[in-house]
Amino acid sequence: MMCPPLPAKEAGTSARPRRVVLLGATGSIGQSTLEVIRRHPDRLQLVGAAARSNAAELGAIAREFGVADLALYDAEAASAARANGLLPPQARLRTGADGLAELARLPGADCVVVAVVGTTALHPTLAAIDAGKSIALASKEILVLAGRFVMEAARRHGVAILPVDSEHNALFQCLQGNAPEGVKRLLLTASGGAFRDLPLEQFERITVNQALRHPNWSMGPKVTIDSATMANKGLELIEARWLFGCRPDQLGVVLHPQSIVHSMVEFIDGSMLAQLSPPSMTFALQHVLLYPERAAPARPGLDWSEALRLDFRPPDPARYPCLGLAQAALAAGGSVPAAFNAANEVAVTAFLHGRIGFTAISSIIEKTIESFPGDEPGSLAEVMEADAEARRLASGLI
Ligand SMILES: NC(=O)c1ccc[n+]([C@@H]2O[C@H](COP(=O)([O-])OP(=O)(O)OC[C@H]3O[C@@H](n4cnc5c(N)ncnc54)[C@H](OP(=O)(O)O)[C@@H]3O)[C@@H](O)[C@H]2O)c1
Repeated sequence: MMCPPLPAKEAGTSARPRRVVLLGATGSIGQSTLEVIRRHPDRLQLVGAAARSNAAELGAIAREFGVADLALYDAEAASAARANGLLPPQARLRTGADGLAELARLPGADCVVVAVVGTTALHPTLAAIDAGKSIALASKEILVLAGRFVMEAARRHGVAILPVDSEHNALFQCLQGNAPEGVKRLLLTASGGAFRDLPLEQFERITVNQALRHPNWSMGPKVTIDSATMANKGLELIEARWLFGCRPDQLGVVLHPQSIVHSMVEFIDGSMLAQLSPPSMTFALQHVLLYPERAAPARPGLDWSEALRLDFRPPDPARYPCLGLAQAALAAGGSVPAAFNAANEVAVTAFLHGRIGFTAISSIIEKTIESFPGDEPGSLAEVMEADAEARRLASGLI
């Protein structure tokens, strides 16, 4: 087990603000990132921002932060944005996957926050690594799809992959200063999502609106559904395997309904370290954006003048079949995690569009991944083939 590599340039006090490119600026993580940047204008400067199609919001961000370097993935939305004057006149707008990659390599930028839902930002992330930018990674799907290739590229270029996901950020903080040989297990906490207490016989009738109501976190639709199925925790186990270089049997999950303990490290001497903060992504984002410095938070921390209750229990496998499937995919290795991720994305999109029921998400993943081999893909092209094949199979099952 090891910690993510931290190049020398990440250490020490910076004399000028750290220049940040934000991919996924209009989403939930994007908005939390902007909240942190607003709180620390002397230390952080937004220099680039990208979204898929929400040009009005991207334009508002560009005006507020004085950002000229922008990207919209969707070419039609980009043309409409230009025609309707939605972006500031001085904007340099890029489009498509190449546009995102170009923004990720922006000269002068120090750090790229990757917060695009799904795996679209894989190539832009590799482009940013190639250009020597440090990566603040929220898009867990990228490591699930191509963790080996992303981590190898980061090592080769001496670039830090700093975890934004609150669980991995907690583990990263708890691992600091501890010898890897002393670590026994990484224990990821899970809120249990919208249906942690719903009677199992009601699962067949779950609606999209019910599934989108997360009890603790305000997040984008895909990750909210992933929380309800706990596919999200499964993706996070696979993400942790790559970020921390651990074996599948060194990773565990515990249900923690309050979402205050974000994860824990168990050491071989029986001690455990945990990281606690309120359930807002601003804490993890600020930690990585200012790393290794610390500063006053964007939102108030925990209030210890009031009683605080923390509960923990093991997750029920019958309630969360997607978690078991992700654990099987993690143990199998090879292209199975990529197939798990692709089938999940297809099934969640179909659920959000009312084309399948909630319980079909796990059946589609199960049927899709069973035909994938555990052999390690030899190249990124093979990984992308497995991803495309899994999407084809999963779509055929809907
Ligand atoms: N939300 C959380 O609390 C949280 C916590 C941990 C990890 N994460 C991870 O962070 C990532 C983002 O989650 P989110 O909740 O912020 O999602 P979200 O609210 O749905 O926002 C997604 C963002 O990605 C952009 N986007 C989508 N497809 C794109 C494309 N093809 N090209 C460029 N931009 C694209 C969207 O732009 P438009 O607005 O134009 O569509 C939007 O800015 C996910 O991987 C998620 O698993 C989220």
